[in-house]
Amino acid sequence: MNILVTGGAGYIGSHTCVALIQKGHTVIVADNLCNSKIETIDKIKQITNKEVTFYQIDVTDAVAVDTIFSDNSIDGIIHFAGLKAIGESVQKPLEYYYINLVSTMVLSKACLKYGVKKIVFSSSATVYGNNTVPFVENMKLMPCTNPYGETKAMIERILTDIGKVNSDWSVALLRYFNPVGAHECGLIGEEPNGIPNNLMPYITKVAKGELNKLRIFGKDYPTVDGTGVRDYIHVMDLAEGHVAALNNLTEGVHIYNLGTGQGTSVLQLVNAFEEANDIEVPYEIVERRPGDIAVCYAGTSKAKTELGWTAKRDIVDMCRDAWRFEKGYED
Ligand code: NAD
Ligand code: WQD
Repeated sequence: MNILVTGGAGYIGSHTCVALIQKGHTVIVADNLCNSKIETIDKIKQITNKEVTFYQIDVTDAVAVDTIFSDNSIDGIIHFAGLKAIGESVQKPLEYYYINLVSTMVLSKACLKYGVKKIVFSSSATVYGNNTVPFVENMKLMPCTNPYGETKAMIERILTDIGKVNSDWSVALLRYFNPVGAHECGLIGEEPNGIPNNLMPYITKVAKGELNKLRIFGKDYPTVDGTGVRDYIHVMDLAEGHVAALNNLTEGVHIYNLGTGQGTSVLQLVNAFEEANDIEVPYEIVERRPGDIAVCYAGTSKAKTELGWTAKRDIVDMCRDAWRFEKGYED
């Protein structure tokens, strides 16, 4: 299939392009590079030894998006492009609502106009809020504490409503848990701007000596060791989950968790990283981070049964691959 990947130069998008190409698909990337680099496209080509068509456009630009659909015979889209920093979304709500929602509507209109019926969207486990674990797809969602999370819940609703009246559409709303790690070759990985907000990129910067020590947010949660528990998923497993969704989607709107089903605490992840890479990660315990929940992990049986997909890589793989990429990475 010819797949339009919006945000394909970004962290998850670039790994998904590799997975798609390796399964025989052709990718067309649309990205404005606001949070990524053009070099990543070259690296996707280098890893796969295949061409990638690249458009540097803003996906809220309906004219530019129309050009891509008229130039290419598109069979399906994966929509990764958007803004994703939770803290920034509180400061810049309009930008988040505008870019995340308008891009989805522009793309949906183009899909209707050009008869593209397969749509995969990057949602997030954040829509579950503070539900009881494991989070399963049919749970009632809770209001998010930030505009970023609200955009994900709203886009899920928008695509669900459009899907209802276009019964030949196949829509996958993929709720990612905590993507970490990098492609096994070390060429592509996560490249956050500035000081990372997320745990794994923070750990790798501390290990590299670019940051002094990790601050662990809270040790009084009702968890195995008092630190927060999350469902970390290797980014290549996540990427392969998208290929499985595209290949196995049936008509209708479907929600799937992409997680491992395993909870890992902050301290367990730090210890696993130190052991896997034989390197020390100094840390201190500080106050809880506002808005954090104690435990989050996925129920995984729906993706397994309906898409035939499960995550294969473990925490050690995630730690090794994240570190391999960081070691080879120059800012
Ligand atoms: P990323 O920032 O690395 O990738 C997003 C890409 O979209 C970037 O390359 C950026 O340049 C591009 N982009 C942003 N706005 C654009 C616009 N208006 N037009 C064109 N391109 C634009 O982020 P990521 O971690 O790869 O996340 C991809 C998607 O997955 C996002 O929608 C994010 O919300 C979602 N998601 C991410 C996580 C995570 O922890 N990384 C978890 C759940 C969901
Ligand atoms: C993981 C754990 C922290 C940093 C976020 C979004 C979610 C999704 C994935 C987009 C928590 C602890 C972290 C640090 C720490 N993104 N931590 N010190 O918050 O689970 O999920 O990214 O959709 O929506 O909310 O991920 O990596 O920030 O935190 O102790 O410096 O690590 O408290 O327990 P989170 P995270």
